[in-house]
Amino acid sequence: MLDRIVLWIFAALTMLTLACNNDSDTPSFDIPENVNFNEHIAPIVHTNCMPCHRKDGGGPFPLITYKDVAKRGKTVKLVTETKLMPPWPADPTYSTFIGERFLTDEEIATIGTWVDKGTPEGSGAAPSPPHYPTGSMIGEPDLVLPMKDSVLIEGDNTDHFMVIKVPFEIPNDTFIRVIEFVPGNRQLVHHMNGHLINYAPGAKSDVHTGAHVVPDVDESNMNTFKLMELANDDGTYPTLTPSVSNYLPGVSPALYPDGIGGYYMSRKGALLMKNMHYGPTPVSEYDQSSFNIFFAKEPPKRPLREMILGTLGISEIVPPLVIKPEEVLDVYTEFKVPIDISILTINPHMHLIGKTFKAYAVQPDGDTIPLIRINKWDFRWQYFYTFPKMVKIPANSVIRAEGLYDNRAENPNNPYNPPRAIYEPVDRDMRTTDEMFQCIITYLPYQNGDENISLSVPLH
Ligand code: HEC
Repeated sequence: MLDRIVLWIFAALTMLTLACNNDSDTPSFDIPENVNFNEHIAPIVHTNCMPCHRKDGGGPFPLITYKDVAKRGKTVKLVTETKLMPPWPADPTYSTFIGERFLTDEEIATIGTWVDKGTPEGSGAAPSPPHYPTGSMIGEPDLVLPMKDSVLIEGDNTDHFMVIKVPFEIPNDTFIRVIEFVPGNRQLVHHMNGHLINYAPGAKSDVHTGAHVVPDVDESNMNTFKLMELANDDGTYPTLTPSVSNYLPGVSPALYPDGIGGYYMSRKGALLMKNMHYGPTPVSEYDQSSFNIFFAKEPPKRPLREMILGTLGISEIVPPLVIKPEEVLDVYTEFKVPIDISILTINPHMHLIGKTFKAYAVQPDGDTIPLIRINKWDFRWQYFYTFPKMVKIPANSVIRAEGLYDNRAENPNNPYNPPRAIYEPVDRDMRTTDEMFQCIITYLPYQNGDENISLSVPLH
C-alpha cells in the first residue's frame, strides 16, 4: 500500500510539474470570492466522489461531510488536479458513456482555490448527500448465489487474482434478465468479470466437485478449468456465456431495456468469476461475494453477442505483441463487420505496460465513428463502457483498435527492472506481468431504430 501511495504521489507530482509548465495556457474561471464547502464543494463531491468514497462504496475512506473532505484537503486537491480521481480513463471529449464521472476544469479549479483559501465551511447547512440503497441497486432478487466458502486474501500487500466458481442447481430451466454482483469485502474486491456456465440436461452429474477457488489468473483457461472440474461427465466442455456480470467500485449493474440482453439459465450450472481482483492488504482478510439473480418471464429476444478483437480473438495484432526491453511499441488490430450491428458496450483490455488505447470504426464511405480513447491507460480501472444509445456500425465498416506499450525502465508501471521482453505467451499460462491487447465489444445484429433506444434504465 505504502509503495503504491508513493508511486501515486510520484506520478501526481510529475504530472503537476508538466501542468505548471503550461501556465500561460491555463484558462481562468469565475471562482466565487466566498468559495466554501456547503455551497460549492459538497455538490461536486457528492456526485463525483461519494459513489465510491462512502461506507460500502469501495473507496478507502468516506468523502461526504465537511470534516471528511477538509481534513484531506491537500490530497483531494492533488488527486483532482492530476485527474487521478475520480478514476475515469476514457477521454470524454472523444466519446460519451453512461455513468461517466469526471470533473470539469472549472470544478477542479474550484476545489484548488477552496483548499488554498483554507477550506472554508460556509454558513448554513450542507446539502444532504444522495441516498444509496443498501444491498441490491435493482430491487428484490429472485435468487441469491453466494460463494460457497469465504476466500482468504493474504495480508502480503500485493494484488491477488483468482478464479472462483459458484455452482448452482435450480428446480427448472429459466431465463435471467440481469445478474448483479455484490462484493462481500468492499474494501478489497477491486474488479470482477463473471461468466455463466450452463450444463445440458444430463451432461453433468455433480456440479459441486473440483476446486472452487484457483489463485492466480490463468488466462489460457485449461488448467483452471481442469482443477475446477468444469467439464461435462464425458470430458467435453459446457457452453459458457461470457461477461454476464462485471464489477468495479462505483459502477452500477448493466440493466438494459426490456427485450435487450438476458440469458438462458439451465437447471445445473455455475457462475464463474474470472479475473477476480483483490487489492492489497497488510493484514489477511476474507471475502464472500455473491450474485443477485433477477429472472425474466420470457426467453431473451435479443441476447447480447460478444466479439473480441486481438488476443484470443477474431483479429490478429499487427505487429505481433512482443515488446522488447526499452521499446515503445504501437500495435493495431482490425476487423471488418459483415453485417449491420448495434454496439452496446466496449471494454479495452491491456495489462501493466499499456499506455494508450483507441478504438473507432471506419465506414465504407470513409467516415469515422469514434468509439473510445484512453490517453493514460490504467490497469486498475478497466470499465465495460456502455454507450448512452446503441451505436450503429454499418456492414463492411472496419473496427480498428490501436494500442501503445511502453517497456522502458522509466515507465513506473513496468513490472521488471531491468526491463525484459514482454509478450502474449503461447507456451504457458498468462500472468498479469505478460501483456494482452484486446478490444471486447458487446453488440446485437442491427434492427431499425436501435440508435434511438436509450440504454440507461433507472435503478432504484
Ligand atoms: C470509482 C470509484 C471512485 C471514485 C468515483 C472516486 N474514488 Fe478516490 N479512490 C478510489 C479507490 C478504490 C481508491 C484507493 C486507491 C486505488 O484503488 O486506486 C481511491 C483513493 C483516493 C485517494 C487517496 C489517494 C492516495 O493514494 O492517497 C484520494 C485522496 C481520493 N481517492 C479522492 C477522491 C476524490 C476527491 C474523488 C472525487 C472527485 C474520488 N476520489 C472519486 C475510488 C474512487
